[in-house]
Amino acid sequence: MGKIVILTGAGISAESGLGTFRDADGLWARHAIEDVATPQGFARNPALVHAFYNARRQQAAAARPNAAHHALARLQDKWPDDVVIVTQNVDALHEAAGARGVVHMHGTLAGALCAACAHRWPAPETMEPGAVCPRCGGASARPDVVWFGEMPYHMDRILDHLARADLFVAIGTSGQVYPAAGFVQEASAAGAHTLEMNLEPSDVSFGFAETRLGPATRVVVDWVAELVARGPGSNG
Ligand code: APR
Repeated sequence: MGKIVILTGAGISAESGLGTFRDADGLWARHAIEDVATPQGFARNPALVHAFYNARRQQAAAARPNAAHHALARLQDKWPDDVVIVTQNVDALHEAAGARGVVHMHGTLAGALCAACAHRWPAPETMEPGAVCPRCGGASARPDVVWFGEMPYHMDRILDHLARADLFVAIGTSGQVYPAAGFVQEASAAGAHTLEMNLEPSDVSFGFAETRLGPATRVVVDWVAELVARGPGSNG
């Protein structure tokens, strides 16, 4: 089995009841990005931002992984040294399905971050404005989620995985936000086969050698079943 690097987006959690961002009823249809997902928005109105993430944290905590999350965990379990999951999602559904070493490039709802000293700790279910950092005591606690204008996490590690990928798979992402939307080019340049599985073509479908359209709970489950049936040496 060659090295498989999987990038997931909000679409893989859609069938677990968590909203996506850019679908018709998505989060960005109901909230202005600049108000709830930028450092400036947080500085302007921390109560609004905390309320936005408190609601998502509680919704994510009540959600259950779906068949697509479980299929990826099964694939990783079969070839633990070859399957890396990089996610743009801030929910913990991959981990809840049993996936390990998930790379959260946009942070996690379960994490809190001190804007003053960069200390990290498990976020409480609800965070309030003025929440205090347990290390420096500053009233500067924020969700440990990467906002627009901020650098995603773990980029060096991700680019190293892409440089060594035999297969790059993108699942449930619209391909509208970089650097994640550019990963297919990185992987292709490294000689990887590329596969996109999405409900509809993304903005970067043209960059993929192969596309499978449909809901993740069908398309991803079928793909993993094919790989497992073919056994080692298959590259998806
Ligand atoms: N199965 C597969 N794909 C689905 C499903 C499903 N059941 N439902 C929706 N999708 C697809 C949509 O067609 C869309 O292409 O998932 C994609 C979701 O796209 P976005 O809502 O843009 O989410 P994502 O690509 O993860 O956004 C990337 O943008 O706002 C930032 O930080 C945020 O991490 C997020 C980033």
